[in-house]
Amino acid sequence: MERTALTHAMARVPGPVTVVTTIDGTGKRWGFTANSFSSVSLDPPLVLVCLNKTASTHEAFTSADRFLINVLAHGQDAVARRFAQSGVDRFAADDMETCELGLPGSHGACARVACSMYSIVDAGDHSILIGRVVDTCTDDRTPLVYYNRSFTYPATATATEARVEEPVKILHLADW
Ligand SMILES: Cc1cc2nc3c(=O)[nH]c(=O)nc-3n(C[C@H](O)[C@H](O)[C@H](O)COP(=O)(O)O)c2cc1C
Repeated sequence: MERTALTHAMARVPGPVTVVTTIDGTGKRWGFTANSFSSVSLDPPLVLVCLNKTASTHEAFTSADRFLINVLAHGQDAVARRFAQSGVDRFAADDMETCELGLPGSHGACARVACSMYSIVDAGDHSILIGRVVDTCTDDRTPLVYYNRSFTYPATATATEARVEEPVKILHLADW
């Protein structure tokens, strides 16, 4: 199995774009862009996100007791890029507010999912962070979508209308 064959196949899978945040014991904020966000269980309410073991945020998240998943909205491409960039202060733009569980969150997100850490599963080169959902906040904004290594969005205008079957519209190719 070639790594590139898998990444090519996965590029065909449209997915959400999230910024996952936490705070460590010293009050330092941590965050990273993730498209691996998925729901796991309704009872109990569980979700997951996968975090690369080599990421600079790995120790902070695997030591954390809670984390907040910000589901980014159409137009938040720059936020997604910033929280994926290495060696920069991802919070310098000052666009993250204190939200659920006292964690950094985006008021422009189309949903926020606040979790207590439920389990951390060792999975190859990633750790799967499984969170028990303790709070949510949703907004009717159109979500940002990652597809074919590009940021795009559902062709429908709002999250409500997105329930109508419409094809995905690709806006532009991103650098990722
Ligand atoms: C659209 C997009 C989705 C990403 N999804 C994930 C993900 O699900 N898990 C992950 O560990 N890294 C993901 N990354 C990479 C991280 O955001 C980040 O770039 C990486 O952890 C390296 O950061 P570091 O400088 O903190 O080590 C994604 C990046 C982009 C642009």
